[in-house]
Amino acid sequence: MKTVKFGIIGCGLMGREFASASARWCHLLKDIPRPEIIAVCDTAPQNARWFTENVPTVQHVFTDYRELLALPEVEAVYCAVPHLLHEEFYCAIIRAGKHLMGEKPFGIGKAANDAILQAIAEHPGVVARCASEFPYFPAMQTLIGWIRERRMGRILEIRCGFNHSSDMDPQKPINWKRTNRMNGVYGCMGDLGIHTQHVPFRLGFIPRNVYARLDKYVTERPDGRGGVATCDTWDNATLVCETADAAGSTFPMFMQTKRMAPGCTDNWYFEIDGMDCSAKFSSANPNVLSYTVSWGKEQAWADVNIGYKPLFPTITGPIFEFGFTDAILQMWAAYMSELDGRTVDFGCFTPEETRLSHEVYTAALRSHETSRAEVL
Ligand SMILES: NC(=O)c1ccc[n+]([C@@H]2O[C@H](COP(=O)([O-])OP(=O)(O)OC[C@H]3O[C@@H](n4cnc5c(N)ncnc54)[C@H](O)[C@@H]3O)[C@@H](O)[C@H]2O)c1
Repeated sequence: MKTVKFGIIGCGLMGREFASASARWCHLLKDIPRPEIIAVCDTAPQNARWFTENVPTVQHVFTDYRELLALPEVEAVYCAVPHLLHEEFYCAIIRAGKHLMGEKPFGIGKAANDAILQAIAEHPGVVARCASEFPYFPAMQTLIGWIRERRMGRILEIRCGFNHSSDMDPQKPINWKRTNRMNGVYGCMGDLGIHTQHVPFRLGFIPRNVYARLDKYVTERPDGRGGVATCDTWDNATLVCETADAAGSTFPMFMQTKRMAPGCTDNWYFEIDGMDCSAKFSSANPNVLSYTVSWGKEQAWADVNIGYKPLFPTITGPIFEFGFTDAILQMWAAYMSELDGRTVDFGCFTPEETRLSHEVYTAALRSHETSRAEVL
């Protein structure tokens, strides 16, 4: 099996998820190039230590990302660092000729995203993508297939979102994702939004305009050192967009990203209403695809348990159930396949899609200022 030598910059939450996925590459049945993590970089030594203790292929540990990029044997980099660092780090990775799996929002703001996309344009040999794992749940992949087959008939509405509730505890200490300086002024939209956009953008449901309702509820949080810190990011965002299907028929699309959504733990959802069929998926019930059946005038909701039938087949049989870490493995299988020049039925979020995402969020900020829908 072919291997691709990887460096990780940012050994936090998501860096560890990648290491775990690469450690169970044998789970995949297809011969897909395997990522081999040989170098890691983090300014916090305790975070890098987890890798030296758990990933036997790691040979190099750095605190300065430029040293990792200077290693000629590193072919690709997963970079999972605070948003403030995306522009500098992603541009340096691309200019070093390494393939990049970046993280959302792919630049702290529009200017940063433009600079990253410019670097990509100047290095066409680099395969760059942005992480987004939720569409890889088999029940969601089934729904994507139905939409491509136009089973819904005339589309009436799409609702997609990504909601959390842990910030509803006002005593939760602040972290970098709750400051405009490190997270960016998009607030919850930048931190959660690309997840909501992967499916609609890929299916061609491009917003034509956006009306945004943005809210801040908790403006101060414990700083973790006995004091209080300003929490200045948007907590909740509701975006109402107009979009159209392939035939040009328009319909509304609601995109919600919430840090204050009662009862939601990492809850990603996609819902579509159509004249012939409506359907919905929620990561809160991740094996179930719900859809309407109709004998004429009335509709009834039915649930089907899709089981373990992922895009990239694995050793796990279809009678079993699928979860978050499986979705991460599938996303990485998609990325490694794209890196290898293969066509993937549902590929990773592209740099051009991040450009669109930033256009939506800059328009959403304008809309919040003007209280009007902004044309994209
Ligand atoms: N795909 C997903 O589901 C998902 C989930 C959470 C976060 N993210 C994204 O991943 C990225 C990182 O988020 P996280 O939750 O892993 O954050 P984290 O805070 O857990 O990890 C970030 C790591 O970067 C390190 N770091 C900070 N400055 C550095 C520097 N100058 N050089 C090297 N390392 C440095 C930190 O020490 C930390 O270990 C963000 O872009 C975030 O939006 C994605």
